[in-house]
Amino acid sequence: MKKEGMAEPQREPSRNSPDNKEPTRSSKGIALDRRKFLTAAASLVGMAAAQAVIPSLHAEAPSSPPVPDDPTRVPGAPPTPYGQRAGFEQATRLPGTSHSLTPLQTLHGIVTPAALHFERHHNGVPTIDPARHRLLIHGLVGRSRTFTMDDLKRFPAVSRLAFIECAGNSAGEWREARGQTAQQTHGLTSTSEWTGVALATVLREVGLKLEATWMLAEGSDAAAMTRSIPLAPVMDEALLCYAQNGEALRPEQGYPLRLLLPGWEGNACIKWLRRLKLGNAPFMTREETSHYTDLMPNGIARQFTFVMEAKSVITAPSGGQQLRAGFVEIRGLAWSGRGRVTKVEVSTDGGRIWRGARLQEPVLPKCHTRFRFPWQWKGREAILMSRCTDETGYMQPSREDLIAVRGFNSVYHYNAIQSWKVARDGSVSNDQV
Ligand code: CO
Repeated sequence: MKKEGMAEPQREPSRNSPDNKEPTRSSKGIALDRRKFLTAAASLVGMAAAQAVIPSLHAEAPSSPPVPDDPTRVPGAPPTPYGQRAGFEQATRLPGTSHSLTPLQTLHGIVTPAALHFERHHNGVPTIDPARHRLLIHGLVGRSRTFTMDDLKRFPAVSRLAFIECAGNSAGEWREARGQTAQQTHGLTSTSEWTGVALATVLREVGLKLEATWMLAEGSDAAAMTRSIPLAPVMDEALLCYAQNGEALRPEQGYPLRLLLPGWEGNACIKWLRRLKLGNAPFMTREETSHYTDLMPNGIARQFTFVMEAKSVITAPSGGQQLRAGFVEIRGLAWSGRGRVTKVEVSTDGGRIWRGARLQEPVLPKCHTRFRFPWQWKGREAILMSRCTDETGYMQPSREDLIAVRGFNSVYHYNAIQSWKVARDGSVSNDQV
């Protein structure tokens, strides 16, 4: 069963596929070969071994420069106009057909690098010239207006950090332990610092009519994504964003303009935003009638379920990783669309005993929160779990409790506790219980 917005079964990109294979001897491959040459034994046998054990770089990753034996003996590289990460770093998004997943298990802190922010689009990423882009605001307003990007940037700006999570994040886990890694189970959430103009500011400018209670937001992608947004709950926080982590939005996140509704499902945060129409009722678009509704066991569908409820996941150790005996800092992320995370608890015995994890400051509302929990792994089998509580007192449910209420018809808003099993050999795998 394949549904919109749902994490499809993922394959790790093959390390040895013909596309990824590095040339053993070509002008392009010299730098890589030289690195391998220097890090492995300087013989043909060493070269062959290096080819087998050193994973090839992602096709888009910059190639690493030649590595000197002693970096203090040769001048370093000159400055560059736009930075790249070190050529040795290989974390990548895991692409599906219409989405890609953030590699949560390789990240630190709470901010997601823009280049690794998850993607979800319904008909590709459009190329939009910001000089020609317009935002039309019409409907129940005093005067309809179109704004250029320059117009929008003249308004007083607002910056904040916020997570965006696809409503379909972890959807593959409803029926079985499906994702092998934290990226596959939870990678449709990311946190950025977003900058833009408050929706309320722009709506004041056009003269919002008293009877306006809903707003249609429309994107200028090839899907012309549209969603209806109730105004009252978003007026304090909604932003029309043009920047992400200090620079212009990435095309995948809506360049040049997107709607941000902190804590609400990603689909409602319309990217490539071109139109806002004010009305007094929801517009009943395709994406809120046939999709992004939650079918309950009694056959009734919940509609306009916008808020992403509290959720957490241990990102290390997590599926696909390998443990060494001794001290292990269990690390993970927790977030809630209703505000701040107030507590994260960790269990290493499958949920019998729970202990409080330390929350890394800053703990911000509607934002990924990093938690840490010190642990000694003594080589025994263990089941690692985390659960979080938010400022409303809501606690992330067990898988059993979530399914008891929601059944198996749902696709969206899966936020149950995730279990990782540590085997005696130190390997970690998905172990939903
Ligand atoms: Co929803």
